[in-house]
Amino acid sequence: MRRIAIFDTTLRDGEQTPGVNLLPAEKLEIATQLEELGVDVIEAGFPNSSTSDFEAVRGIAAEVSAATVAALARTKEDDIVRAAAALERARRPRIHVFTSSSAVHLQHMLRKSADEVIEQSIAAVRLARHYVDDVEFSAQDAMRSDPALVHRILEAAIEAGATVVNVPDTVGYAIPYEFGALIRNIRETVRGIDRVTVSVHCHNDLGLATANTLAGLMAGADQAEVALNGIGERAGNTALEEVAMVIATRGAALGLETGLCTAAIGPVSRLVSRLTGVPVQPNKAIVGRNAFEHESGIHQDGVLKERTTYEIMRPEDVGVNPNTLVLGKHSGRHAFRVRLEALGYALKDSAQEELFHRFKDLTGRKKDVTDDDIRALAEERPGGDDAFQLETFHVSSIGGGQATATVTIRRPGSEPVREAAAGDGPVDALCQALSRAAGMSGTLVQYALHSVSAGSDAQGEVSCQVRVQDRVVGGHGVSTDVLEASALAYLAALNRSHRWMAQESLTEVG
Ligand code: KIV
Ligand code: ZN
Repeated sequence: MRRIAIFDTTLRDGEQTPGVNLLPAEKLEIATQLEELGVDVIEAGFPNSSTSDFEAVRGIAAEVSAATVAALARTKEDDIVRAAAALERARRPRIHVFTSSSAVHLQHMLRKSADEVIEQSIAAVRLARHYVDDVEFSAQDAMRSDPALVHRILEAAIEAGATVVNVPDTVGYAIPYEFGALIRNIRETVRGIDRVTVSVHCHNDLGLATANTLAGLMAGADQAEVALNGIGERAGNTALEEVAMVIATRGAALGLETGLCTAAIGPVSRLVSRLTGVPVQPNKAIVGRNAFEHESGIHQDGVLKERTTYEIMRPEDVGVNPNTLVLGKHSGRHAFRVRLEALGYALKDSAQEELFHRFKDLTGRKKDVTDDDIRALAEERPGGDDAFQLETFHVSSIGGGQATATVTIRRPGSEPVREAAAGDGPVDALCQALSRAAGMSGTLVQYALHSVSAGSDAQGEVSCQVRVQDRVVGGHGVSTDVLEASALAYLAALNRSHRWMAQESLTEVG
């Protein structure tokens, strides 16, 4: 079996998903779970792109112990110096230097000749090696480049001291056999290639990212660059969960293995979805909510008789325990605690007690409480340090799309603020009233509602993205009342936006 390194870029390429902006503290929360998942490398950000990315990489570098922490840099001196500074406290730092190799990128973006790009790459890798022992080098758009130029650039980067060379299909153009041939050719031809790790980085524009990544691995690549839930530029990056579970399920046929603890996939996938405000499509492989559901009678009958009739993986192997109906209003503390622990939530006594009260509140509104409800409760933390907290809301819908909403929100340590607004439907009226009360004008750019479990008394889960000034941030809310879930999600986005502003003004002062 050949051990494949998993390079997670959820926090860098994944954060390039339209409308996704993660705060440094949120990136750290995800990085902590990525480490538990056992990824080999966490690409934490692009330090020279913003102060907050610098802070995020710096914070993650200080906290992460087992995984390598990578920071992205162009072949520019100030990018590399900034990446090195952000990685100062990392136990295993890696600077990831990238350039481009395709004719279209050289001509229109870099406006440089091939020789100039090679010279710049050599200087950049040498400078990065001056700061750290582990330097990854990427030739963007390698798939659409002249293979002879890709070979020359990679040889030059290896000669200059790169320890990892990455071959990206930046625009998701490859077909698996072609991508496999590209990697095989690099493996067989590039001078010095045996001294370095060969990596593959695929995008999903044609829905082939996972297939191309596997073709690259089978052709001799040793590292797969992936993002959770497949998030990333345009159609996204190769999904971590897909590569992980193909290798876990079909490892014997592929001769490949990873060091991942796959049972941690479900919780970190949900965390990424909640913090980015990007919902996971229901039929998404591995982590979609339908991935382990059986709808037709024939399938249900088969699975009840023998699980493997229609299941090639066990839900618990990816941290998606089957949704069972477990608790109700007569369930006490002990039963609740046992169920929480069985679902993998190890909480302090005080947090458990607070959760138990929310559970009791839920049983007053919903007859049967399922595992998915408990997960939603445990993962939806009421933000004690949030600037704005929802106290009351009232909505009346008068038909024809017209509605009015009145809300009261509280800011810790100050008097509640009450505001009303009319809107084009109840969600619009609520958002407008909340914006007024918070004194922040926001525009809802994305809104999705789905039910956590079955039944008309089910909890509704809302994911949204809200633009405040020129930044889009995500929000998430859960309640048996879908309007309350909408208000909570919108307010969560305003709170996140408020934190961004506070962070920026701190940076300006600093
Ligand atoms: O897609 C790409 O080419 C990249 C590089 C920076 C590796 O993200
Ligand atoms: Zn990319």
